Amino acid sequence: MMTSAYVAMTTRVIPRDVELTIRTARKVPKLGLMMVGWGGNNGTTVTAGLLANKHNISWETKNGTKTATWFGSITQSSTIKLGLDVEGKEVYCPLSTILPLVNPNDIVLDGWDISSADLATAMKRAKVLDYNLQQKLIPMMKDLKPRPSIYWPDFIAANQADRADNVISSTNKKECLEKLRSDIRDFKSKSGAEKIVIMWTANTERFCDICPGKNDTADNLLKAIDEDYSEILPSTLFAVASILEECVYLNGSPQNTFVPGCIELAERHNVFIGGDDFKSGQTKLKSVLVDFLVSAGIKPVSIVSYNHLGNNDGRNLSAPQQFKSKEISKSNVVDDMVASNSILYKPNEKPDHCVVIKYVPYVGDSKRALDEYISEICLGGINTISIHNTCEDSLLASPIILDLVILAELCTRIQFLSKDSKEPTNFNAVLSFLSYLLKAPLVPKGTPVINSLFKQRACIENIMKACVGLPPDHNMNLEHKLPKNLFQ
Ligand SMILES: NC(=O)c1ccc[n+]([C@@H]2O[C@H](COP(=O)([O-])OP(=O)(O)OC[C@H]3O[C@@H](n4cnc5c(N)ncnc54)[C@H](O)[C@@H]3O)[C@@H](O)[C@H]2O)c1
Repeated sequence: MMTSAYVAMTTRVIPRDVELTIRTARKVPKLGLMMVGWGGNNGTTVTAGLLANKHNISWETKNGTKTATWFGSITQSSTIKLGLDVEGKEVYCPLSTILPLVNPNDIVLDGWDISSADLATAMKRAKVLDYNLQQKLIPMMKDLKPRPSIYWPDFIAANQADRADNVISSTNKKECLEKLRSDIRDFKSKSGAEKIVIMWTANTERFCDICPGKNDTADNLLKAIDEDYSEILPSTLFAVASILEECVYLNGSPQNTFVPGCIELAERHNVFIGGDDFKSGQTKLKSVLVDFLVSAGIKPVSIVSYNHLGNNDGRNLSAPQQFKSKEISKSNVVDDMVASNSILYKPNEKPDHCVVIKYVPYVGDSKRALDEYISEICLGGINTISIHNTCEDSLLASPIILDLVILAELCTRIQFLSKDSKEPTNFNAVLSFLSYLLKAPLVPKGTPVINSLFKQRACIENIMKACVGLPPDHNMNLEHKLPKNLFQ
């Protein structure tokens, strides 16, 4: 096995072949998406995006007529290289056509929110979409109402209290769990959805303590819920409900929803979980830029990331404990790229890395991300890159939410069989396949976290290709570098 460390002349490589048969069920189910935080900026924007695309809506702006698209979604708006044509030119097809995927237009929606606003009112409150688009969507969204949710003030910022008017009456954890499970069953039976994905896109919670005997194993977590133990995040309770109802659960926020007991429960029930924290703006750029710098042999020594935003997410993150969750989620994104180059960095050496988030109401959902990357170049030189990124937070996050849902559903239909195994197996319950879309990718215990965006994208492409029997991309293009007669 090749180790990742640079060890001159001492690496032993032992090749090993494993033959896998991959089978993908081609029947696409009717898919239901339940969002926790449905009435928030992301929840309303995803809903608006689904409806606007489904109904082919166009609207007037000062810059002319706009039509709905899913730009920013890899499943809807990106292509994948199939190979070369007879003249040696690359051939691409839409990524959505390589395997049968759920069509976004067919997704049925439901969700929970601690705020009772219907989705049309919540869309206006979010101030994300053009006025004329909102007007066209209001008739389709005014009757969509979030289900009451769990509100335990200890876990989100105190400044959220004024919108919590749609709350499950009991605070007892076991009763709340039963209520969430019955909501899921209710949606399933009313909508006719064959599969359901549940997505946390509610406010960032504070981290919870990992307590031996309480949330360290699946059994202890279930017992702690029965005993109404206090240190359980609402998001963990949603995850448990979701797992027990055999629904994929995805976490779009940075808190530690997936305590060890919750991960064990997902593995025990063979239900997919994925997280944490949507990767939409600054971190996405960071996972490209640091990869480029380090692989170019340039040494980043200081990375300072400053943000200000004025939406409700920013308001919640202005509280220190919730900011801490976000800071942790953003903190490790360069580690694997730095560790990959032992010419630039000594063991355990890392660049200085600082993240600041400020709440500035005026900018609303147009988050500003200002980054400074200082790198050492040859002969004592210093290279400084400064970036100003206006993120349009929810318009960047919504296509990512769609991709998470569509790709997670695809994973439920993929099975692997090796020569020696009698039964086909699924991916591990912790769905690291989704890492491209997540800021702090959750991976199965003992497996490496990959942050490089290019590697994460290649993982999705190559696994999808493997499912249809195409080889992974090697990008050698030897046919263009060697005499033509070699290939005849
Ligand atoms: N937009 C992005 O680019 C982006 C990127 C990464 C992560 N995120 C995360 O996604 C989450 C949502 O972002 P947003 O901009 O939509 O925020 P938002 O504040 O507009 O929406 C969150 C919604 O969750 C609701 N809520 C809070 N606690 C709840 C609970 N226990 N149950 C049900 N509903 C609850 C709130 O009432 C609100 O409507 C945040 O945690 C944010 O950090 C967003």
